[in-house]
Amino acid sequence: MPPSTTAFLAARHARLHAAFDALSVDAIVITHPTNIRYLSNHIGSAGILVMAPDASHLLVDFRYQEAVQQLQESEMSCPGLRVVAVPASYDEALLGCLEEIGVSTVGFEADHVSVAKHEWWRKAAAGRGLALTFRAGERVVEDLRIIKDAAEIAALRESARRIGPVAQAAFSAARAGVVERDVASAIESAMRAAGYERPAFDTIVGSGPHSALPHYRAGDRMLARGDLVVLDFGGVLDGYCSDVTRTVAIGPISSEARRIYDAVHDAQRAAIAAVRPGVLTTAVDAAARDILEQRGLGPAFGHGTGHGLGLDVHEDPRVTKPRTDVPAIPLAPGMVFTIEPGAYVAGFAGVRIEDDVLVTATGCEILTNVPTELITL
Ligand code: GLY
Ligand code: MN
Ligand code: MN
Repeated sequence: MPPSTTAFLAARHARLHAAFDALSVDAIVITHPTNIRYLSNHIGSAGILVMAPDASHLLVDFRYQEAVQQLQESEMSCPGLRVVAVPASYDEALLGCLEEIGVSTVGFEADHVSVAKHEWWRKAAAGRGLALTFRAGERVVEDLRIIKDAAEIAALRESARRIGPVAQAAFSAARAGVVERDVASAIESAMRAAGYERPAFDTIVGSGPHSALPHYRAGDRMLARGDLVVLDFGGVLDGYCSDVTRTVAIGPISSEARRIYDAVHDAQRAAIAAVRPGVLTTAVDAAARDILEQRGLGPAFGHGTGHGLGLDVHEDPRVTKPRTDVPAIPLAPGMVFTIEPGAYVAGFAGVRIEDDVLVTATGCEILTNVPTELITL
């Protein structure tokens, strides 16, 4: 059951309506499934949501009509929603809906509509004699989703809380002589036992030299004494993701591996300590990066410090060093993101430590409850 009741949806709609003026549009066409879910509670692989100031119109085909009907009769119903049946083509139905409600300038999600689709809409509208202008909106709903509401925070807290016992299962499974894939299976069955609907991403179990491959998955290598093992996993609960990484040692490890672990651990703690309202995302990244650079591990830290977490496992805000394509934004209460610095030395070993945090009025709450001190198994 999605966690967001009618009142939460109404508040999201009000925030979206405020964006209409900035875009100068009469309505916005939402096509990205995650954003449709965020605004309507409809979960499906298909659907188009037309958000107008006075009503919302959800276009769905036969496969979803009964489900939407049931949703609308529940406490999760979407306020002001009119359900529009799609007999065949979603795009034809969309134009019919826009014609019927009589809008002239319509926003669309430029991040999610292909150039070909946009061209088709434009030409087909002209072919019907409609005076319709399609205006590209960038990250309109994603920008709303950066600040989580109380329903989302409750869901994210619970999703992160349940990963604690899963981590303990991971620590029990990771032993010398066990194959990476079998450790991943143990983690995924612990996630199912904890009530998650599915893993949030492909579970990573990278042992020995594989730990130096940041987005390795899990293969057929056997864990061996002296290895560092990166365990990165998360689950989806009521639609909301958790994402945690721990790096463990299998028996005694070299002093260089231990040095790398301590550097990443210090970097992770420093980045978490930097989180509070008003601080730029780039400053949180710098808190971690400065420590790794001071320890000679700057080149070994080739990814950002973290990413937003919510209905998607990777969403805004991006916690990175300054980039021309990712705006640095000041943190605000209600943001939820990961803090996951790492250091990777090809052919030798890698370390990543990842927690999920919620920005509060004064700092942050660490949502994931798993020890960060090096665990030797
Ligand atoms: N597991 C992917 C990530 O941590 O972002
Ligand atoms: Mn992760
Ligand atoms: Mn992550």
